[in-house]
This record gives sequence, structure tokens and C-alpha cells, in this order.
Amino acid sequence: MAKIWVLNGPNLNLLGTREPAVYGTATIADVEAVCRQAAKAHGADVDFRQSNHEGALIDWLHEAGRSAAETLGVVLNAGAYTHTSLALGDAIKAITVPVIEVHLSNVHAREPFRHHSYLSPACAGIVVGFGVAGYALAIDGLARTAKTYADARR
Ligand code: DQA
Repeated sequence: MAKIWVLNGPNLNLLGTREPAVYGTATIADVEAVCRQAAKAHGADVDFRQSNHEGALIDWLHEAGRSAAETLGVVLNAGAYTHTSLALGDAIKAITVPVIEVHLSNVHAREPFRHHSYLSPACAGIVVGFGVAGYALAIDGLARTAKTYADARR
């Protein structure tokens, strides 16, 4: 079965109670349920993970890259590492599976330090500001893009 990796970075384990005015009240378990539902509609399975450690996110990106044959792509909300981590940007460049950058909030409407992303230039697409629905949009985009590539190869 085709697989979509959904990787979440620091502090996202606290969704639901963390700054609800910015991030809403859905928990990380709710996010996982939304992702599973969205992937199911495309006949895909989800590998859903969260870590507060930069290195774990890098290791998981490499792992997703190694499973390219069965992987449609990666949905990545790297949290604040988005704005600081050259290493995460390099990890995305180092793998061949498409990565979609997701942010619950509209980072461009927030503090200036959130406007820059080390990840965006390496990503296939970006979804910001749609809350939890953004994860479903990213999964939809990944599945549709993969289908477009498959059709083009036929
Ligand atoms: C975030 C936006 C980041 O700027 C912030 O550090 C987060 C969450 C979002 O989903 O809106 O941790 O990635």
C-alpha cells in the first residue's frame, strides 16, 4: 500500500492546549485522525510521527527517502525548526521523495522571524494558514501530484 509520512516537529505534541488562539484546540491525535482519513481517500497509509528533536526529524526524512518505492511523499510541519534549521533543509534536498511543508498558522501574518523558511526552497509545495485542514490539503496535493506523474509516465 502506498505510504505517506506525516512528520511533526517541536511543541506540536502540545496541540490543543498550546496557544489555542493561534493553533486552535485540535490535539495531535485529532491531526493524526484527519491525516488517516485524507490518505484513506487516496488508498494510502499514513506513518504519523512527532518529535521535539531536530535529529529525529532528519533521521525520519532519510528513512522516508530510503522507502521511496512505496512512499508517495512526506508532509512536514517542522515547527520552529522551519525558521532555524539549515540541516533540515539539506535533509529535504538529500532525498528524492516530495516533501510538502505545512503550518497550521499563517506564518506570513505573524512575527517577521517566521517569514523565512529554510525548508520552502527544497519542498514540492507549501500549505499555510488552514489549521488542521492544511494537513488534509497537503495529503491531497501529494496524492494528486503523484497521480499526475504516474499518468504522464504512461
Ligand atoms: C507552526 C509555525 C511555527 O512558526 C511555530 O514555531 C510552530 C508551529 C505552525 O504550524 O503554524 O511551532 O509550524
